[in-house]
Amino acid sequence: MSHHFLQFDRVHYRYPNGYEALRGVTFRLTHGEKTALVGANGAGKSTLLLHTDGLLLPTSGQVVVGGIAITPKTLRLVRQSVGLVFQDPDNQLFMPTVEEDVAFGPANMGLTREEIERRVAAALEAVGALHLRKSAPYHLSGGQKKSVSIATVLAMEPSILVLDEPTSNLDPRARRLIIEQLRGFGHTTLIATHDMEMVLELCDRTLVMEQGRIVADGPTTEVFSDLQLLDACGLEQPCSMRGCTVRG
Ligand SMILES: Nc1ncnc2c1ncn2[C@@H]1O[C@H](COP(=O)(O)OP(=O)(O)OP(=O)(O)O)[C@@H](O)[C@H]1O
Ligand SMILES: [Mg+2]
Repeated sequence: MSHHFLQFDRVHYRYPNGYEALRGVTFRLTHGEKTALVGANGAGKSTLLLHTDGLLLPTSGQVVVGGIAITPKTLRLVRQSVGLVFQDPDNQLFMPTVEEDVAFGPANMGLTREEIERRVAAALEAVGALHLRKSAPYHLSGGQKKSVSIATVLAMEPSILVLDEPTSNLDPRARRLIIEQLRGFGHTTLIATHDMEMVLELCDRTLVMEQGRIVADGPTTEVFSDLQLLDACGLEQPCSMRGCTVRG
């Protein structure tokens, strides 16, 4: 059994106020695939991602990770495989220093002190934030927090990496570092983003969400060539596909 696949099967989710944010979501990601999840504000991307490690459980339907359906009983097991980076880093960082935040996950996995230190240094280095290791997370800039929150998840070396807006708030150099880091990550990756240039560069496959549904699922270049679809979903073709010059 592979730990690396992620499957949504007719997932519906209704928030406690009655709003149905997911309306029958079905897809399957297999080992090593890098997939983008795009859609307008409020389409349901973050709600969907919160289902990948059981922070939200479906109202109906099911989510399966590596052959294990997510239920209250399997949460612990599933969270060993899925690393989720939240949209808002303030929800991810809660320790007094950056290095303690990054060490938190590996320490909970019962790793040795040397291994924890190795992982903390490697993860912070990977996102260009090693110099911030002694800083207090709440003193960091928005972009620095974002980079550190990605490091907290990388340090757990998950088999499935799920990121909500990994490049938002990042300056060009920090954005480039994260893109290269994600490119080198060989396992299954799901990225919700408005950064269409990154999607084009990194993801072979794209899912398009609109009002709680997946309305398109295919090769990124095909999805991004369908101007009618993009327009109907409040999206725009990446600048580089329209022939304008972008900084990389
Ligand atoms: N806690 C909540 N209670 C009720 N409704 C919510 C809650 N969180 C989100 N929603 C609603 O669910 C819908 C989907 O929200 P979600 O955050 O998943 O969208 P998104 O695609 O991630 O948007 P964005 O691109 O702005 O991050 C929105 O209409 C939102 O208002
Ligand atoms: Mg969101």
